[in-house]
Amino acid sequence: MKLARRLDTFEGYLGTAMNLILTRMRSEGKDVINLGLGDPDVEPPEQFRKALSDACYDPKNHHYPSFYSPLPLKKAISGWYEKQYGVKSDPEKEVLPLLGSADGLFHIHTCLLDPGDIALVPDPCYPAYVAGVKIAGGIIEPVPLLKENGFLPDLEAIKPETARKARMIWVNYPNNPTSAHATGDFYYRLVDWAHKYEVAVISDNPYSEICFDGYCAPSFLQVDGAKEIGIEFNSLSKAFNACGWRTGFVIGNHEIISGLSKIKSHSDRGIFYPLQVAAIAALTGSHEFMERRNLMFRERRDVVVQGLKDCGIEVEAPKGTFYIWAPLPSGVADSKEWCFKVLDKISVWVIPGSMYGRYGEGYFRIALTHPVDRLSEAMNRLKKIL
Ligand SMILES: Cc1ncc(COP(=O)(O)O)c(C=O)c1O
Repeated sequence: MKLARRLDTFEGYLGTAMNLILTRMRSEGKDVINLGLGDPDVEPPEQFRKALSDACYDPKNHHYPSFYSPLPLKKAISGWYEKQYGVKSDPEKEVLPLLGSADGLFHIHTCLLDPGDIALVPDPCYPAYVAGVKIAGGIIEPVPLLKENGFLPDLEAIKPETARKARMIWVNYPNNPTSAHATGDFYYRLVDWAHKYEVAVISDNPYSEICFDGYCAPSFLQVDGAKEIGIEFNSLSKAFNACGWRTGFVIGNHEIISGLSKIKSHSDRGIFYPLQVAAIAALTGSHEFMERRNLMFRERRDVVVQGLKDCGIEVEAPKGTFYIWAPLPSGVADSKEWCFKVLDKISVWVIPGSMYGRYGEGYFRIALTHPVDRLSEAMNRLKKIL
C-alpha cells in the first residue's frame, strides 16, 4: 500500500505505543508505576457525573448533537472565561466547543497554514503541535524554551525575517512538559510582538486551573488587542478532572474560529449531547473541589521534588501543572535510552525529554498522577538504581 509522503516524517502518539508496552509488562506480573500519561487518578465531582448520567436517559439526546444548537454550552464557556479572567466574548462567534482541545489544536494548522508556511513551535512542546504542522504541510521553525529564560520563548531572538514570514506561534503556559508558568507581562510582550509581525498567537491553556502557592494562571486573552490576533484553547480535561469526556473549547478571534468551525463541520458532528449538558453543569457549578484537588497535587509535587533531591537531582517546585521536569542524573546523556532502562530495571515509566523536541534532551518528565504512597515507592525504586 502506498501511503502519502507526508507520513514519512510523521510519528504516532507516544502514549498509545507505551500503553501497549505497559499493559504487556503488567500481564507478565510486573508492578508497573506509570508516571507518563497526563491522566490523573481523579474524577469529576459527583454532581457533574450525575448531570451526565441523567442526560443520557433523555431519548432526544442520542441524535447527532449538531442537530441541537450548542449555544447553551457556548454561553457557559463564555461565562466561565468572563468570571475567571474578565475576558468578554460573543458566544456565537468567538467560542467553539471541541472534542477535547486536542481536536482543535490538531486541526488549527489546516486552518492557518498553506503548504510551505512557517509555524513557530516551542521546543520542547506538546507533540500534537508538531504533528499538526506536518499534516498541514507547514514548516516548523523551533522556538527553544531554555531554562535560563524560565522556559519562555525569547521573542527577541526570533529573526525579524522569520517572524515576518511566520503565520502562527504556539504558546502553552502553564507548560507541558516543562511545568513553567507565564506572567501577564509575558503576554503583553507577546501581543505587541504578534501585532508587529502579524503572526497569529495560538495559546494552549489546559492547565489554567492547576496552580499552587498562590499563583493563578492568566489567560493570553486578558491583554488588550489579544483577540484581534489570536485564540486560546482550554479544556475540561485537567481543570474538571474529566480527561475522558473529550470536551474542550477554543475562544478568541472570530475569523480563526469561523475557519476552524468550517473544517470541523466536515470532520465531526459535535460533542455528545449529554456531555454538553454535563459540561454546562461543570462550567457554571461550584468549583470548590479545585482547591482541594490542587492541594493534593501540591503534596504529591513536594514528595517527588524531595524524592528527586534524595537521588541527587535538584528541581524547583513548579507553580502549575501536575508535571515535574527534571534534569537527567549526572553522567546520563540520552534521555530515551535512560528512561527505557529505568522501565526495564524498576518498572517505573517516566517520559524522555527528547520526545518533546531537541531542546527537551537532558530532561525527563514525571506526571503526578498517582497517590503519594505510589510516588514515594517510585522515588525509592529510583534511589536504589542511582
Ligand atoms: C499542553 C496540552 N495541550 C492539550 C492537551 C490535550 O488536552 P485535551 O484532553 O483537552 O484534548 C494536553 C493533554 O495532555 C496538553 O498537555
